[in-house]
Amino acid sequence: MESPITKSDISLQKMREVKRLKSVEDKRVGSEVFDRITLKTLYKLANQGHIHLLNGAISTGKEANVFKGTDDKGNLVAVKIYRVTTSDFKKMQYYIQGDPRFNVRSNNKRQLINNWVLKEFKNLNRAYEVGVRVPKPIIAKNNVLVMEFIGDENGTPARLMRQSKISNPEYVAFKILDYVKKLYNDAEIVHGDLSGFNILMEDNEPIIIDLSQGMVVDHPMARELLNRDIDNLIKDFKKIGIEISKDEIKRKIMDL
Ligand SMILES: Nc1ncnc2c1ncn2[C@@H]1O[C@H](COP(=O)(O)OP(=O)(O)O)[C@@H](O)[C@H]1O
Ligand SMILES: [Mg+2]
Repeated sequence: MESPITKSDISLQKMREVKRLKSVEDKRVGSEVFDRITLKTLYKLANQGHIHLLNGAISTGKEANVFKGTDDKGNLVAVKIYRVTTSDFKKMQYYIQGDPRFNVRSNNKRQLINNWVLKEFKNLNRAYEVGVRVPKPIIAKNNVLVMEFIGDENGTPARLMRQSKISNPEYVAFKILDYVKKLYNDAEIVHGDLSGFNILMEDNEPIIIDLSQGMVVDHPMARELLNRDIDNLIKDFKKIGIEISKDEIKRKIMDL
């Protein structure tokens, strides 16, 4: 594939010398994200061939920054980097407690974030394996998650459902509910933060992202989260002209 990367690229191999990431498009984002351990993590991922270049921020969120990059074969990747300084540990602790996959007793912030990233990776994996369209997870290391880039081959990231004109609303709503059902019944997880802000649109197809909050279905909070996800979806569906009741959605999801 032709690599679209030009001047503003960061070569991870060279970053060691560059130190302060002078070549990053957005310096504020750069210096904020790349603390020493994050840089080390990125070098390691670079040495393993998972990240060759990072070029440009896709998003600066509350807790994580998402960058566009390429791997050493030139494939586009999305790299989500959690900021250790601004993460909401209370929330993370709250969501991770009671998940049988994690035994997080420590108050160590880094450890909590690393587990948080691993949780997102595992949730993506489970979803991917049961046929839910999500970014294919590639690797999680410390506070960095590498995954399939969702967008066109020129490197333009896909748009959020909330910001897209949906030309096929019935199909999109049907697909999303089918994914929620597969997540619940097959992957046995609840997304926990599902709305048009965590669904990307590519070629009229919805793609579910941001599964860090996802919970196993037998977690005591799973029902509450599922209800919230459904309420959010009902609002988003309404915006694209699809009216569907909560009961109807629940019937579809639970397969009753
Ligand atoms: N795999 C991906 N490919 C392309 N863009 C992505 C990808 N993952 C995330 N993004 C973009 O980054 C934004 C933030 O990612 P998200 O996982 O939702 O993190 P958060 O909402 O916690 O900041 C998304 O709204 C989307 O625009
Ligand atoms: Mg999000």
